[in-house]
Amino acid sequence: MKALVTGCAGFIGSHLSERLLEAGHRVVGVDALTDYYDPRIKRRNLTALLPHRNFRFVRADLNRVDLARLLPGIQVIFHQAAQPGVRASWGKTFEIYVDQNIRATQRLLEAVKRMKHLKKFIFAGSSSVYGRVTSLPMRESQRCAPHSPYGVTKLAAENLCGLYHANYGVPAVSLRYFTVYGPRQRPDMAFHRFILAGLAGRPIRIFGDGRQSRDFTYVSDIVSANLAAAARGRPGMIYNLGGGSRILLKDALKILEGRIGRRLRIVHEKKAAGDVDRTGADTRLARRDLGFRPGTPLARGLSAQIAWHRQMVREGILE
Ligand SMILES: NC(=O)c1ccc[n+]([C@@H]2O[C@H](COP(=O)([O-])OP(=O)(O)OC[C@H]3O[C@@H](n4cnc5c(N)ncnc54)[C@H](O)[C@@H]3O)[C@@H](O)[C@H]2O)c1
Repeated sequence: MKALVTGCAGFIGSHLSERLLEAGHRVVGVDALTDYYDPRIKRRNLTALLPHRNFRFVRADLNRVDLARLLPGIQVIFHQAAQPGVRASWGKTFEIYVDQNIRATQRLLEAVKRMKHLKKFIFAGSSSVYGRVTSLPMRESQRCAPHSPYGVTKLAAENLCGLYHANYGVPAVSLRYFTVYGPRQRPDMAFHRFILAGLAGRPIRIFGDGRQSRDFTYVSDIVSANLAAAARGRPGMIYNLGGGSRILLKDALKILEGRIGRRLRIVHEKKAAGDVDRTGADTRLARRDLGFRPGTPLARGLSAQIAWHRQMVREGILE
């Protein structure tokens, strides 16, 4: 298969690209190396990809690039590129979210709507589309009411995928990721911040009382689900991808403490606008159609992430 991975230098896109190459596929990877976080980390994420003979890297912005140049021969698109992050999506920066998440997705869908050989268009959606819920688990069929501007843009992009499927038959499949973690996790995400602070002996700042819960999902389980969606995902469908490790943040911190091997100093801060108290996925649809069975326990996934952090600190990329 020849695949296009957008956002290939990011956390999830780089793992996905590596797995595709390992499986013998050809990959065109596009990434603008945006400055949402330090582009040195993104360049580091690309190091195993760039020398690979079946990988072509295009540094470009999806809102500007000539897509006709990228698409010939592409059979599957994994659209991971986005401006992520809930907390930064308020105020003036909302424009960036509209550009990277809505406009870029619409531009890509327009470019592929008459592509005959496209087998699947996989969209990286988000659990943030659900918003604050009164009961768990979150089901794909329930009403979405995002609680952050970021969530609004991800829902708009997901809806665009659905309507290009309904009107033009674009074989779009949306995957709603629930808090992904593992090596290369973005610097704005909780475990990344906690591990880095823990390793350096700095205090860990958490928003709220630590009783918020998340359905953490290990990155390789997300990657496996993307490959399964390319092979077996039903066009027009939306699938929750939650790791099944639903846990209170304060309990996750205890596991982290054990893995880092040092007592963590925790400082509580005010809850941030846009954050929800809990997430939890109903993954029956993904299990049925994609064979989704997330297999990585939190303690094991965190150990792998800590090892990556230690390596990045040694290389002087993180401190
Ligand atoms: N990490 C999570 O827990 C999580 C949860 C839910 C959904 N998601 C979604 O998964 C996808 C990947 O997330 P991530 O955590 O790997 O983020 P990331 O920021 O590490 O990766 C996204 C990449 O997209 C690139 N990019 C952004 N706009 C671009 C544009 N216009 N043109 C080209 N490249 C562009 C960025 O430079 C970056 O490298 C995103 O769509 C995100 O919304 C992630």
